Amino acid sequence: MTDRKKINIAQPSFLGNEKKYLLDTIESGWISSIGPYIEKFEQEFARYHGVKHAIATHNGTIALHLALVAAGITSDDEVIVPDFTFVATANSVRYCNARPILTDVDAGDWNIDPDAVAANITPKTKAIIPVHLYGNPARMDKLGALARKHGLIMIEDCAEALGATYNGKRVGTMGDIGCFSFFGNKIITTGEGGMCITDNDALAERMRILRDHGMNRQKKYWYDFLGFNYRMTNMQAAIGLAQLEQLDDLLNMRDEIYRTYQNAFVNCSQVVLQETHHQRHVNWIFTLRMKGFTETRRDDVMEVLKAQNIDSRPAFYPIHHMEFYRHDGFFRTTPANSVLVSQEAISLPTFIGLGESDINFIAQTLIGSINH
Ligand SMILES: Cc1ncc(COP(=O)(O)O)c(C=O)c1O
Repeated sequence: MTDRKKINIAQPSFLGNEKKYLLDTIESGWISSIGPYIEKFEQEFARYHGVKHAIATHNGTIALHLALVAAGITSDDEVIVPDFTFVATANSVRYCNARPILTDVDAGDWNIDPDAVAANITPKTKAIIPVHLYGNPARMDKLGALARKHGLIMIEDCAEALGATYNGKRVGTMGDIGCFSFFGNKIITTGEGGMCITDNDALAERMRILRDHGMNRQKKYWYDFLGFNYRMTNMQAAIGLAQLEQLDDLLNMRDEIYRTYQNAFVNCSQVVLQETHHQRHVNWIFTLRMKGFTETRRDDVMEVLKAQNIDSRPAFYPIHHMEFYRHDGFFRTTPANSVLVSQEAISLPTFIGLGESDINFIAQTLIGSINH
């Protein structure tokens, strides 16, 4: 073991008005889910995306659930999701007692494969949730065409991709609802937090009501629907607003980290990055594939990094490998690319303040262990 300082996989950065705004909430007493920062954060988030509505939530998982319930997803509906994603994408469908259909990804861009989506559409299919994985936008042109052709609701899972664009359009604005996460390791953070955006007035109104226990907006303590407490606090929103003010700079700094990693691996033929199409991808967490690796070899590389005090993460595991997704028809054909990409991929430290020398050290350690 080395006595080198630990390099974390992720860490938040608070370089703007975070403390000032947070202190303001404490001094004003508006610490729960009523307060000026919630409205301001929602307004600015909507403005950034050029949409009419932004609805803040307590985290990204419930943003997805809220979107699905508002869109009318219910038991026996099928919702197409990628097999290679963070588990919340699929779980949110099951919270509606609906059936997620775990669908294979493209081996090049690691996002849901439009051809596999087409093959999984049945009369029961109601919605599709593309995920812009690791900040890389999914094939929204083909997915949008499929959704239109089959009358499907499209909910974009943008948890990892705030600020990314596809054909010049921001992620989250191409489907019916876009959902975001502000967990501590995300592009911007509120501690825990999430957001739904939409241009659809009716969906927005339903999400606002459902977020607040289903309470009638005119008649206090009268409930029109079975709702939830999915509200964001004013304290979360204060931090979120301050983070949002810095978004362009944060994205540029993350791009710089991406380029430095890319250069460091340029001569390593076994390292493969996500392919991108017609888009600006954002560098949420730098993740690469080590061609031909098994899960065991990938884990060995992680051990070598750990011995140098470098934190890393395995890529997400295929969801269909989880015990509670192996049965009951959650997938129709085995998502083979999901298995392949998952076992070969590793996520490396990515956060504001990670220096060039650290990145080169991480890359050299990884290359050394690949060639070992
Ligand atoms: C793709 C994806 N979807 C959903 C979520 C859920 O967000 P949260 O952790 O804020 O609940 C995350 C992140 O953690 C994610 O990466």
